[in-house]
Amino acid sequence: MTLQQLKKIVAFYGRFTLSFTQIGFVFRRLFWSRAATNFHGQHWVVTGASGGLGREMAMAALRGGATVTAVARSKEKLQQLVADATAVGLAAPQIEQCDVALVADTQLLLERLVASNQKIDVLVNNVGVLNDDLIITQEGKESSFVTNLLSHYQLTEGLLARNVIPRGGLVINVTSGGGYNVPLMTAPLNVVDLKKYNGVAAYGFHKRAQMVLTNFWREKYGPMGVDFYVMHPGWADTAGVQRSLPRFRKILAPILRDAHSGADTAIWLAATRPSQSPGENVWFDRKARSAHAYPHTRISNETAQSLVAYLDSHLQGVAR
Ligand SMILES: NC(=O)c1ccc[n+]([C@@H]2O[C@H](COP(=O)([O-])OP(=O)(O)OC[C@H]3O[C@@H](n4cnc5c(N)ncnc54)[C@H](OP(=O)(O)O)[C@@H]3O)[C@@H](O)[C@H]2O)c1
Repeated sequence: MTLQQLKKIVAFYGRFTLSFTQIGFVFRRLFWSRAATNFHGQHWVVTGASGGLGREMAMAALRGGATVTAVARSKEKLQQLVADATAVGLAAPQIEQCDVALVADTQLLLERLVASNQKIDVLVNNVGVLNDDLIITQEGKESSFVTNLLSHYQLTEGLLARNVIPRGGLVINVTSGGGYNVPLMTAPLNVVDLKKYNGVAAYGFHKRAQMVLTNFWREKYGPMGVDFYVMHPGWADTAGVQRSLPRFRKILAPILRDAHSGADTAIWLAATRPSQSPGENVWFDRKARSAHAYPHTRISNETAQSLVAYLDSHLQGVAR
């Protein structure tokens, strides 16, 4: 590691550790008033809903009275979610098995959601992974790129195009503070060359792109009465963090957030639907914050339009 890289890491952790951990959550919570979470009559679709933050969001939506469709790969984990929900007297979530790392599988999910004839009031694009090792899918794409970004785009655009998300609907995108480190760039989104692949960097670029995409959607679909928010959860102790960032987790475990604290802002956004100023921002701990922590990430040769064109190029031949 070079001295410059070390300096960057020290600056990042020095700046964000108190804020992103449970310490920041507990402190800020002192100033919050109680928000009523009444989701009766709403249908939610939550991706990555069988574990970590997505599971917490799905359970919170069920507690608020929503009908929930939970999406993940493992049938066993989804069935466990159903068992856990019904064991505490909640309605059973509908479950949808889908590997969103595959465009074809996400397309089948989209078609099933459309065919079910249920409007979706709240779509939570929560699924996201940081893959330390390069995984190329059977479709030839880098797996975390499709999981973290392309599937969100495919699902959201597909549901909107088919009028499944009605006027008054809501889309919440779950990003990460990792996106703060990099500007918008499309070239590093889908790195399939082992020599060039860096999982942490790829994750950061996906998360930056999510921020840009959310603002693009706000401008495109806001006039149609659909709200879009992008939030980040801080640092929460989930299976994903344990798997992808074991050293980070080992050092910070005592002060990492629990899943409830990590999911809080998403639930609060759905409950309160706060107004947003125009332009990019990221919600964190119930407040809209700047999408940029460093001046260099504001500088990019790319735009939301070039990002969307890039994503579209990866969905060529897929019914839209
Ligand atoms: N935890 C944090 O500190 C943190 C910080 C910043 C941002 N985030 C973001 O928050 C979101 C949730 O993170 P998390 O930590 O809760 O993740 P997690 O613990 O890894 O949970 C992953 C969930 O996603 C599902 N999943 C994973 N790959 C999938 C795939 N290809 N297709 C369908 N479902 C898949 C998993 O179920 P199956 O394995 O059964 O598919 C599980 O339900 C992500 O977007 C992440 O980037 C988390």
